[in-house]
Amino acid sequence: MTISAMRPDTLCARAGEQLDRRVGGVTTPIHTASAYMRADVGGREAYRYPRYANIPTQVAPAEKIAALEGTNDGLVVSSGMAAEAVALLAVLRAGDHVVFQADLYGGTHHFLSVELPRQGIARTLVEHADAASLEDAVRDDTRAVFVETPSNPLFHVVDLAAVADMAKRRGIVSIADNTFASPINQNPLALGFDLVVHSGTKYLNGHSDLNCGAVAGDSALMEKVRERAVDYGVTLNVYDCFLLERGMKTLALRMARHNANAMALAEFLAGHDMVSRVFYPGLPGHPGHGIAARQMRGFGGMLSFELDCEPRRARAFVAGLGLVLEAVSLGGVESLICFPSETSHAKMSPGDRRARGISDTLIRFSAGIEDVEDLMEDMERGFAAARR
Ligand SMILES: Cc1ncc(COP(=O)(O)O)c(C=O)c1O
Repeated sequence: MTISAMRPDTLCARAGEQLDRRVGGVTTPIHTASAYMRADVGGREAYRYPRYANIPTQVAPAEKIAALEGTNDGLVVSSGMAAEAVALLAVLRAGDHVVFQADLYGGTHHFLSVELPRQGIARTLVEHADAASLEDAVRDDTRAVFVETPSNPLFHVVDLAAVADMAKRRGIVSIADNTFASPINQNPLALGFDLVVHSGTKYLNGHSDLNCGAVAGDSALMEKVRERAVDYGVTLNVYDCFLLERGMKTLALRMARHNANAMALAEFLAGHDMVSRVFYPGLPGHPGHGIAARQMRGFGGMLSFELDCEPRRARAFVAGLGLVLEAVSLGGVESLICFPSETSHAKMSPGDRRARGISDTLIRFSAGIEDVEDLMEDMERGFAAARR
């Protein structure tokens, strides 16, 4: 069966597998060698060196992510930040300019603020990331536009097809961070984007036990991305490739539960008297719901909510939880909770946070795959602690 004929669950389970037919095992082996024999003395020319990412153990998760994002080339690297760095540096050089959505993961924000200027690359951040506002920031020296949707922590939704059209018209490369949605819920490349990046640490691996990243796109552009990754030495080692491939086998199954749990929790929280606002693109009242419903197949496992109380009571809410763990990161099988004001946006001044709508009682929730009734009961324990 060809990859193009497979549906997402089949792609998760099978795409990219590199079986060793001599042995007959049904999983991709971990090839530990860092040196490979020449073809004329029994080796295979293609398998040369792990940093080049051409070992079958590395090829397996790379082909799986490419298949899930509906393209012909993928690469797995050592973190989501490495994925972003090599994607951006593949298309930008000193003297170039790049346009970013302002609402971005904190690490991305730090990279564009510190690393890009060090490379002589100028950037503009756009507050309302609709296609027209992003286009207003495009200049003669602009080479790329970068967006993240849904965004962290307020779940702004960017119209991917409109931004991709704009980028094509203006002759610039479009890059989307698809971490929050996952390729099961959203495929930016199918909507016209050139490159998609992931923190594989999150949903792709899905078990909170691995730091990795991925880039996917057409092979012509991916050649340049691969060159940067090889030069900077950020390709993923085979042990982590094994874990990533294994994690991705259940991605579609997990996403279905993440989506369902987050939707049920968003509805539950929206009806709760201690909650002033819920941010989840699946709720009809969310400002990005219309676009999200058009471009996403599921609304994802992440949501935020604001408690209608003093910060010390919001703290008591989180401290009162027994099942949900207070931790940064997201996308694992276990539900995690955190305060963006203390984690992802801690470096921002309180005034800037307020201006962006990130209050001290805003809570971000990564819905795991537990039974949602257990999660709701745990939330009730938290609310009871906050009321005391
Ligand atoms: C949306 C998003 N993009 C990129 C990253 C960076 O990924 P990593 O931590 O794997 O480098 C993160 C990490 O939290 C993220 O949330």
